[in-house]
Amino acid sequence: MRKQILISACILLIFLPIRAQQKIDPATIRDKMQWFADAKLGIFIHTGIYAVDGIDESWSFYNKKISHTDYMKQLKGFTLKKYDPSFWADLIKESGARYAVITTKHHDGVAMYDTKMNNLSIVKSTPAKQDMIKPFFEELRKRGLKCGAYYSLIDWTYPDYPGFIKDSNKYKLEKEYDRWNRFRQFFQGQIMEISSQFNPDLWWFDGDWEHSAEQWESEKIRSIILARNPQAIINSRLQGYGDYETPEQNFPVSRPKYSWWELCMTSNDNWGFHHDNNWKTPYEIITIFVDAVSNGGNLLLDMGPKEDGTIPEEQINILKELGSWNKKHGEAIFNTIGGIPQGHFYGPTTLSKDSTTLYLFLHGKVNGTIMLKGLVNKIQDITVVGNGQQLTHKVVGKISWSPVPGLVYIDVPENVNDQYVTVLKLRLDKAIKLYRGQGGLN
Ligand code: GLC
Repeated sequence: MRKQILISACILLIFLPIRAQQKIDPATIRDKMQWFADAKLGIFIHTGIYAVDGIDESWSFYNKKISHTDYMKQLKGFTLKKYDPSFWADLIKESGARYAVITTKHHDGVAMYDTKMNNLSIVKSTPAKQDMIKPFFEELRKRGLKCGAYYSLIDWTYPDYPGFIKDSNKYKLEKEYDRWNRFRQFFQGQIMEISSQFNPDLWWFDGDWEHSAEQWESEKIRSIILARNPQAIINSRLQGYGDYETPEQNFPVSRPKYSWWELCMTSNDNWGFHHDNNWKTPYEIITIFVDAVSNGGNLLLDMGPKEDGTIPEEQINILKELGSWNKKHGEAIFNTIGGIPQGHFYGPTTLSKDSTTLYLFLHGKVNGTIMLKGLVNKIQDITVVGNGQQLTHKVVGKISWSPVPGLVYIDVPENVNDQYVTVLKLRLDKAIKLYRGQGGLN
């Protein structure tokens, strides 16, 4: 224990001098967020001992589906014997994603790297005996992908963390603040380790709901991270000290007001490997993805590898299908901005950054004529993305003396349909201008 405290004190000293200089400046944040805004797609990876029995990650003992002792027996079965980080990185690259976020430690407290802060890691306590994070980040970086570290602030196994299982805490924080201080030293030490060993481009905190910003010392955590890497992006789960929002499993209907947001979503019904077969289809995933991007957000699509490091076939298939759709339609997705407000077109849209190109996404099979309302611009031409075919259009109902634009009708022949989502590219005469009135009533 003394050794651990000494190590964390030394790391703290390295970080302290630069820490004091940190300030939150909106222009700097906008700059550092640019790659994230352009990236649109990330892959989330929940890897952990819960894959051994294929049970709910950490929550299974918290929710008393299994005892903590039995849950921890899974340590003995976590082998990683077929772990191939270059295959993982290839697959992620192939999906079109620009970043990946991997669990460095979930709420169960098992570190997926060689932590020196305690002995509960896959390196020291499982037959895998290896750090998963370093080789994975190396492979991602070789392919130009950004590296994200998921880190759970909650640690239900650590003796000095108050929370344990549902309805049963180890102690009351207010009564034993020295224990809480010990825990803080521990988890902040792990954050420093992750920061200095892996230098993540993005931090994905989780579990902040169990304590306040003051209790976690969120401001200090942010400073520690930015001192090492001022460009690091931090998600919202740090009690108010993050850079972007993280709706989880729930799909925004109206457009979120945040500058940056990311929908995190499972591919079946679980984050980690699980014996549930409720896989979302590639069509469902692509339409959800397009919807998020159209509303100015990213999708962080999760996969849960098995204990031996292999990835379920269904998951591989999802990523490959998504990848071939992205390959064909990438120009309408990556480096774009969220589309036009709802009501102009009954489907998702995106815009080029200079707003002179509008992309319309057509779900399912379209065979006929689609309509666009309130477009003031002249359309130069319309093509089908990934296919190049030119489409014809007609402006209907334009009244010469009225400023209200006519309706644009575009013919979409059946032969241009993509098997998932077809995309039309409208080149406009200049930056998009929309009429948003009530047809002369205002
Ligand atoms: C929730 C869960 C956690 C999961 C995370 C991913 O916060 O607690 O198990 O890792 O969502 O977003």
